[in-house]
Amino acid sequence: MARCFVTRQLPGSALDRLRAAHEVEVWPKPTPPPPAELIEHVQDAEGLLSLLSDRIDAQVLAAAPRLRAISNYAVGYDNIDLRAAAARGIPVGHTPDVLTDATADLAFALLLAAARRLPEGIEEVRSGRAPTWDPLHNLGADVHGATLGIVGFGRIGRAVARRADGFEMTILTTSSRSRPGALEELLERSDFVSLHCPLTAATHHLIDAAALARMKPSAILINTARGGIVDQRALANALHDGTIAGAALDVTDPEPLPPDDPLLAAPNLIIVPHIGSATRTTRERMADLAVDNLLAALAGRRMPHPVPLAG
Ligand code: GLV
Ligand code: GLV
Repeated sequence: MARCFVTRQLPGSALDRLRAAHEVEVWPKPTPPPPAELIEHVQDAEGLLSLLSDRIDAQVLAAAPRLRAISNYAVGYDNIDLRAAAARGIPVGHTPDVLTDATADLAFALLLAAARRLPEGIEEVRSGRAPTWDPLHNLGADVHGATLGIVGFGRIGRAVARRADGFEMTILTTSSRSRPGALEELLERSDFVSLHCPLTAATHHLIDAAALARMKPSAILINTARGGIVDQRALANALHDGTIAGAALDVTDPEPLPPDDPLLAAPNLIIVPHIGSATRTTRERMADLAVDNLLAALAGRRMPHPVPLAG
């Protein structure tokens, strides 16, 4: 029996399987444990099940001398200091595959909503300001037949491409292995640019003022990956001055954005609160994978879903 700290209540019955084998403490609040509380709760933990909103840095690891396994309830793992975990020989797991389609669905929902200006239309109807059918009003952009640039062609990027095929879109892609100049070309040619790369030192602020300036003035940016990939100050400017036509974000830096964040005042912007994987089935399957990872590592076995670098 090992002591496990789980930083949030999870949907489904996966945590029951963990409880059957180990002594489990679940953080009871709907917001992440503040850093001092996290440190206090990992002190005698051997297993940690963390969320993407928990920073598992060198300081947290140093406070957890008995820690033997970290299982992140997310496909992304930029919240974890992998180097510090590897230095201690602590395996790190994540939840790939099970959220690929849900996240791709949301990327497409955002693309369609931004292209066809759904939030504005909904607001007009609700506030009684909707005009009668008007040849000149609420005109958006065509999705079918348009060019979609997919930045990051992993599992989720490919799933977005499959959806785009159904809309007869032309698909351009780049990945970390693309030739120099490929991203620039994608930005210049795309009507929609959708981000699906992980947040790393190399992709931090990948979409900066210079990248936005390469995009068409009619283009729309979609981000369901990580907020830090986009320079938000540059994005706010680009929306204000018409460098691009719109943006739809599931992720921001930080999350949530403070109510006075300048980005919130930018026009033609949709922001939803990081709900890419937020379907009941997906979140339950993520819990299953996260618990499978923790159970395996605590039993001295290889995690079934280790993160690529620390695995
Ligand atoms: C969500 O953003 C995840 O990484 O699972
Ligand atoms: C996400 O993990 C992806 O591979 O796209």
